[in-house]
Amino acid sequence: MKITLFTVVVLLVCGSLAVSGKDRDGNRRIYYKGWTDLNRNGRMETYEDQSASIDDRVNDLLSRMTLKEKIAELNLLPYYVNQDSVIRAKIRQGEIGALLKANGAALNRSLQQEAVESHRLGIPLIFHEDVIHGYRTILPIPLGESCCWDREGVKRGAALAAREAAAAGIQLTYAPMVDVSNDPRWGRIMETSGEDPVLSAALAAARVEGFQGTDLKKPETIVACVKHFAGYAALRGGRDYQNTDFSLRDLQEQYLPPFQAAIDAGVGTLMCSYTSYNGEPVTMNHFMNHVILREQLGFKGLLISDWTTFNHAVSEGAAADGKEAACRGMNSGLEMDMASGQYSRHLLELVKENAVSAVDVTEAARRALEVKFRAGLFDDPYAYFDTEREGQTLLSQENRDLACELTVPTMVLLKNEGETLPIEQSRNIAVVGPFASDKTNLLGRWSMKGRIEEAVSVEEGLKNVMSNVDFNVVGCKLNEVTDAYVASAVAAVKESDIVIACLGESVQSSGEGVTKAKISLPQDQINLLKAIKKCGKKIVTILFNGRPIVLDEVLEISDAVLEAWYPGTMGGKAIALLLSGKENPSGKLTQTFPRHSGQIPIAYNERRTFSVIEPSDLPKGPQFPFCFGLSYTQFEYSNLTVSSDTLQAGDTLEVFIDIKNTGKREGREVVQLYIRDKVATVVPREKMLRDFASITLQPGEQRTVHFILSSDSFKIYNNRMEYVAEPGEFVIMVGSHSQHLSAKTIRMLGKKE
Ligand code: GLC
Repeated sequence: MKITLFTVVVLLVCGSLAVSGKDRDGNRRIYYKGWTDLNRNGRMETYEDQSASIDDRVNDLLSRMTLKEKIAELNLLPYYVNQDSVIRAKIRQGEIGALLKANGAALNRSLQQEAVESHRLGIPLIFHEDVIHGYRTILPIPLGESCCWDREGVKRGAALAAREAAAAGIQLTYAPMVDVSNDPRWGRIMETSGEDPVLSAALAAARVEGFQGTDLKKPETIVACVKHFAGYAALRGGRDYQNTDFSLRDLQEQYLPPFQAAIDAGVGTLMCSYTSYNGEPVTMNHFMNHVILREQLGFKGLLISDWTTFNHAVSEGAAADGKEAACRGMNSGLEMDMASGQYSRHLLELVKENAVSAVDVTEAARRALEVKFRAGLFDDPYAYFDTEREGQTLLSQENRDLACELTVPTMVLLKNEGETLPIEQSRNIAVVGPFASDKTNLLGRWSMKGRIEEAVSVEEGLKNVMSNVDFNVVGCKLNEVTDAYVASAVAAVKESDIVIACLGESVQSSGEGVTKAKISLPQDQINLLKAIKKCGKKIVTILFNGRPIVLDEVLEISDAVLEAWYPGTMGGKAIALLLSGKENPSGKLTQTFPRHSGQIPIAYNERRTFSVIEPSDLPKGPQFPFCFGLSYTQFEYSNLTVSSDTLQAGDTLEVFIDIKNTGKREGREVVQLYIRDKVATVVPREKMLRDFASITLQPGEQRTVHFILSSDSFKIYNNRMEYVAEPGEFVIMVGSHSQHLSAKTIRMLGKKE
């Protein structure tokens, strides 16, 4: 490269910031922080020119790339330390576009240098990761987080995760997961935001905004990847990876709304599910990947497969071999191949055989490159690899404080007999059970780089927050709830005024690849509860679980029950703040809790029927309905009013409800608004969530909560699968949970009326 006077000046000014690469003729290329270098004839190519539009830069770069180089952009491979040299060799051979599972500013910088310095066009890698609920400071599992019903809080949590992940050299996360499930047997229900598509949609958008921020080029934001497209949660029997069979109506009404919300929020990428739609794997499903995703939902970002799904198609008999799977995948619109290597192995040959169009490969490469340009990797491929910033950002006190603040409202008070909680500053408190001192299970399954030893246990939280209390902590391991342990726990309880029983299921019993038929606490923990019950002391049970669980015996024995989920790094402190009364619970369930797994599937928004038949061997209805949650104070709802008794297409309807805090302490109340379509051309659902809000009230304070509904809120898919607001009566319902609502009837006027 000819060194002009200008370059010398730039070198001198930015020398300390310069990192090096090689140009298309093997000459040294210099990247400057915020600059790229001048090429040999003294000017930047368009793709290097930050002042050019991303479209122009991508078009220029594509025009210079070979087909092989374009195919490399579609090859996403996992990084394993024990295969470091193999990966580096593939990078230098220009075979990889993106890596997942490579973490740390130092490692990822060195891998990036391999790419930038060896590629004749200097194309950088992009680093992906599963930053699902935190990176090093771990937040509650998504099912727990969703119980805060707080868009802003969820957005702040995602932004926290993004700051830590970006500081550790990650530019893209495989989140938000937006599957909508009503089957607690499914292990991945822990990753969902509950059973309702409207809530899942609202929180999907919040997470995308939190991860991506307003400028993806900033090295504290990361590209989001909404998943798993679509209908993964519909698997039979709640058994992960099993076949799904659901209607186009379910697809449109239950599974697509959160994807539409994420796309409307600008999500950069999207991941296909392992499962099928209408019998064909989504990885190779043209109807899903074009007609639904591109045409109906308007997605313009990058479509990534899930882990080796091309190989899965072969092993489940939906493709003869990897080559056929790759061919059908590309022809269906699937653009990036995660970990199977089938695109890298077969696309060049498939194009030569005219089985796949070079145009499609180019368009797929375009989308993969657009993500890299949007992330700023062509402006400074090393911006995300600052080890000093990494050390300052991960697990900072600021992040831990924020995580604690965000964890408190995710916990749900399920029972509080005789105001057992908050615990007055009792003299002596026994803390027992396998989660009393546990850290191993607090972080959940997608705990990324969270470290068990950094989690705050219940014991630590209580001793920190209630430092003047004499705690008698007798914990054990999950597999050690033995008779001997029970005896020691009972002895501690007998010496106490009140007992906190910390119970739950192993973190390994939920998450990917796991399904449970029995969704109740292990019998040894029930036996422990029964034993301490005989001591005649008040019992506060704290639950740690990744799904709705059967609680009949727990509720019968406990005076108070707090659902803590897997609460993340600051879980123990959040629990202590709630038990001590320093914080007031406000979380509300986003999944219906069944009385027995025999009630599954169970949800609040079932379609109506002419006769509701319930299992004859159970009490009727769920244990806890959708959106149930108690507070240390009480709220009274009154004066539900609507701005009009009639509504026409294009109108908005204002809904008002007064809420009063009738208790003795400040509290936050989550209010929901549902509608019920009284008559439709299809069997209507019992009710449908349409909006939610939260309000914090002082004791005695009353305020009005105001909702604005558009006529779109009354739309359903009619009997011709048209998404329309049919004329007729609707019931507007507002309240504290799905079975405790005030109601008002309005009429949707048709055009003719
Ligand atoms: C997994 C999951 C997906 C995850 C991906 C990468 O099998 O299905 O949610 O993001 O592989 O780890």
